[in-house]
Amino acid sequence: MRTVMQNIVRFGVSIDDKLLDKFDALIAKKGYVNRSEAIRDLIRSMLVDEDISDPEAESIGTLSLVYNHHASELADKLNDLQHHSYKNIVSTTHIHLDEHNCLEVLILKGKTREVKAIADKLSSIKNVKNGQLTLTRAETEKEE
Ligand code: NI
Repeated sequence: MRTVMQNIVRFGVSIDDKLLDKFDALIAKKGYVNRSEAIRDLIRSMLVDEDISDPEAESIGTLSLVYNHHASELADKLNDLQHHSYKNIVSTTHIHLDEHNCLEVLILKGKTREVKAIADKLSSIKNVKNGQLTLTRAETEKEE
């Protein structure tokens, strides 16, 4: 049964009670005040994932790179590649984690294929220990 009030639709969901208990425990831990908001966020997240799977879609990427700055030529190479892609790099933050290790966080913008290509190039440089890219986009139509 669907009840429509203004633009809000209420719908019933059949779900295993143990699965629902786990879901309720998880969303309580995450700080959701009710199931509806948690389910709306899940749906939005699936829609964003689907949208950014299109290589031509506009997306925003957050790339974090961990590397040892003593590794020869690594810092220069990272710098060169970033200058080469300056149009897609909105911001970079560099943090010295300890005497040897650095964390660099880049915010990238552009077509999904461009953002992924830059992330792949930077992450695959020798001696970059860990490169993690998270993609998102602005148009998620957050209601309320
Ligand atoms: Ni550093």
